[in-house]
This record gives sequence, structure tokens and C-alpha cells, in this order.
Amino acid sequence: MAKKVLEVKDLRISFKTDNGLVRAVRNVSFDLEEGETLCVVGESGSGKSVTSKAIMGILANNAIVEDGSIIYEGENLLEVSEEEFHRIRGKKIGMIFQDPLSSLNPIVKIGKQITEATLVNSCKIKKLFQDKIVVQLVAYRNFVSQNNIAQIKALAKHEEKVSKAKKRLKAEKDTLSLEEVSVIKQSINDSKIKYQATRIKLKAELKEKLPALKSALAKRKKEAKAEVKVYKQTLKAEYLAKASALKASRVNAKDSEVERIDQELALIKKEYNDSLYVSKAEAKRRAIEIMTEVGIPMPERRYKQYPFEFSGGMRQRIVIAIALTADPDILICDEPTTALDVTIQAQILDLINKLKRERKLSCIFITHDLGVVANMADRVAVMYAGKIVEYGSVNDIFYNPKHPYTWALLSSIPDIDSKERLEAIPGTPPDMIYPPAGDAFALRSKYAMEIDFTHEPPFFKVNDNHYAATWLLHPDAPKVEMPKIVAERIERTKGGSRK
Ligand SMILES: Nc1ncnc2c1ncn2[C@@H]1O[C@H](COP(=O)(O)OP(=O)(O)O)[C@@H](O)[C@H]1O
Ligand SMILES: [Mg+2]
Repeated sequence: MAKKVLEVKDLRISFKTDNGLVRAVRNVSFDLEEGETLCVVGESGSGKSVTSKAIMGILANNAIVEDGSIIYEGENLLEVSEEEFHRIRGKKIGMIFQDPLSSLNPIVKIGKQITEATLVNSCKIKKLFQDKIVVQLVAYRNFVSQNNIAQIKALAKHEEKVSKAKKRLKAEKDTLSLEEVSVIKQSINDSKIKYQATRIKLKAELKEKLPALKSALAKRKKEAKAEVKVYKQTLKAEYLAKASALKASRVNAKDSEVERIDQELALIKKEYNDSLYVSKAEAKRRAIEIMTEVGIPMPERRYKQYPFEFSGGMRQRIVIAIALTADPDILICDEPTTALDVTIQAQILDLINKLKRERKLSCIFITHDLGVVANMADRVAVMYAGKIVEYGSVNDIFYNPKHPYTWALLSSIPDIDSKERLEAIPGTPPDMIYPPAGDAFALRSKYAMEIDFTHEPPFFKVNDNHYAATWLLHPDAPKVEMPKIVAERIERTKGGSRK
């Protein structure tokens, strides 16, 4: 089985607004396997961008992550700040957005924007140290944040419950019946017992495990510091030895040789510096290299230009270049071609596929357009109203779709060959402050059954990789056929591929 590079589990995100909580992401789970492209497809507002922003740690301030985890290299990204995450690991997840203009600074030259991302003058020694301690640091932090934060949260909930109940007893003491009072008192007691148990467990765990993790980290830090010191001293000693040998040879050198020796001196000094810091020249060299990689003609000249001097497609290439400077292993593309016209769109998709191949990237590709999915995806997750409603391989989704919403999306892809009129999906997506009970798509679906309005469908298995959350897959559900337009197109495509 392929290695999972990212695991999103039970993610739930809401936004505080004046009108109430917007339930943007409601229990989303998926994995990303090494080297694959997972396409997330769904109408505008279904929660695609919020999910990807949560992975990047760039949610808006009014976001509340209510539940879930996003595991990357053993760490829950939701528990560490973005800054901290990048400080330790370097940016290993890159993201590109729909509108390249909004990701570029209009008054800074392109070259500078790319080199800034490579961290000019950043200290290589410091990074070496951080790399050396990362295992112990992550173990320590994971323990503190994951295990205990969950328990501390539980504690806080109990405390809140107790204090609310106490307040109620006080405020309504004249109106509550004896029976009601005793029920409330009982619940306070129950909560206290549970709270006590959690507190004891938490304390014991902290006492038992934390010191060991702490001292392992301290020990590793000390060792790493010593190792880094030796490394630095070796570099310096090597440099000084070479330099003094050269300087010695310079004393008795012929005039004709002096110039060569001076050049060599300058060169080893530069090499020494480069081994300590990322130099400006090195950053520029890398930037030009990456601009070439993403297909920007005359990169040396383009390096000195401003964003407005670039076309939309070229700007998107620059944004991709910036995402690549950190050498990510996961690339999240959020509707990267939606703002571009069709020919440019195809070029950018080709570029993303090429980069994916050459750099062995794992990719999350987000789009509202099932039409582009076929050329990009290994697997597809269909999102509706903050939930994944169906997921499977690209073949499963295109040739054996099961959820009425997937059918609706498939019916709305324009078909160039048959010049068929596309069917717009009737109705509008639900108001996410009051997400509908049951299957959220029921309101817009002619296949909806009574149960769809009351009970949320679980995922039914179609095959080992293919699942759909629709009551139509329940053994007792009436047999229904998918829309004719979808069935016919599948037949045609199958026929086409047999030729
Ligand atoms: N900062 C915010 N405050 C309030 N609601 C938000 C915020 N960001 C996103 N939303 C809401 O969350 C839902 C999902 O949005 P989004 O993930 O951007 O959808 P899409 O699938 O089009 O990318 C939408 O209903 C959107 O209005
Ligand atoms: Mg979006």
C-alpha cells in the first residue's frame, strides 16, 4: 500500500459571524497518498478552500476548528502555529490559489518575491541544528499538545458545565421544583467525579511521561549543539588551513601567480560563507532555475519586472515557482486555473502534471469543474455542503458514480462532441448557518427519499476504494437509475475508449 503523506481526520471548522456560526467543514476525512493527485470537487461554498487553508494553517481569524486532526509527518498541524511549523520543518506543503494577483505583491519585483521565499541570508547552521533535534521536539510537543490538550479541553468543558449548573441553581432557586434541584445537583456531582478522574489521570500522565520527554529533548539539544559546533569548527579549520597555505605560497610567488592566488583566496572565502549562509547570489541562481522550470521565457529579464508586466498565465507560473522554492513534497492547488482562459488553463494544468512527475509531488487539486478532473486526478473526493459525499478512483467517479450530487455534477459538464446542452444543477447550495439535517443535497435532488430529510446517510461501500454517502445504496432502498444524460455519456466514453 502506498505511504500516506497526509491524513485529515474528522475535520470540523466553523466561522463566527454576526448571523451565527457558519458550519463550513463538517466532519471531513481523507488521506493523501505519496505521489498521487487527489481532486476535491464541489460547487462554490462547499468547503474546499477552508479545508485546504486549514492544512496550510492560514484560516481566517474568525475560524473555529471544532474537531479533528491533520497529520503530516507524525505531527498534528492543527496543534502547531504555522510559524512554528515552518521554523522546524521548512515549508514542506506549498499552495497555489485561484487568483495569482492576490498572492503577489504588486509593488515588489518578481525576482525579489521569489528569492524572499528561499530565505536569503538564512543561517544554514541554525537549520542544521533544528533538523537534528526535530524528532525529540516533535515527540515532546505532540505529547503536550495532543494528549493533554484534549484532556484539558474536556476538563474545561466539565468546569463550564458545573459552573453553569451552579448558576442556574442560584438564579432559579425560587422556581425550580425539588425534583429539578436534585437532578441538577446530581449532574454536578457526576461531572465532578468525572472531572476529578480526568484531573488525576492527567496529572499522573504528566508526572510519568513528561520528564522523560523533556530530558530526552534537553539531551538531544545538548548533543546537537556539540555536533553543530564540531561541524562549524571543522568548516572553519578547513577554510583557515587552505587560506593560510595559499597565503604562505603567495609570499614567495611570482607576480604572475599572485593574481591567481588572490582569486583562489576569494573563492574559498566565498565557499566558506556559502556553507554558513544562503547568499544573495545563490538565491538568485535558484530563482532563475525555478523560473526556467516553470516555463518562464527570458527569466533573467523577467526577474527584474513587476507583476503587472506579466500575463495571467505567467503570473500563475510565478506563484507556482514561489511555492516550489521551498521544495515542498505536497502541493495544494486551489482552483489554480479558474481565473484563466481555456488555452492558458490547459498549459497550467500540463505544467502542474509535469512538476508532479518530475518532483514526485503529492497533490491536492481543488476545482468546481469536474471537466478538468479527468486529466488530473488519481482519486476524487466530491464535496457538498461541508462534507465529502463520495470518493473513489477517477474511474469509479466517472464510470460508476453513486451519489445524486455526483450525478448532478457529471450532468453539468459541457460535452464538446455531442454539443449537448449542459444541465445546470437546480436550486442553490444550502445556507451553512443552518445546514439541513440528513442528506444536505436532498432539497435539490429528485431522488430524495423521506429518510434523506431526517437522517444523515453513512458511507456505503461500493468497492474497497469507492464509498458514497447516500441512502440509495442501502439494501432496502428502491432501485433508481442515474440520469440518462450521465448514463449515455458513460456508454459513449466507454465505447470511445474501446476503439
Ligand atoms: N472567514 C469566513 N467567515 C465566514 N464564513 C466563511 C469564511 N470563510 C469561508 N466561509 C464560508 O465557508 C463556506 C465554505 O467556503 P469555501 O471553503 O471558501 O468554499 P469553496 O468550496 O468554494 O472553496 C462558505 O459558506 C463560505 O461562505
Ligand atoms: Mg474556494
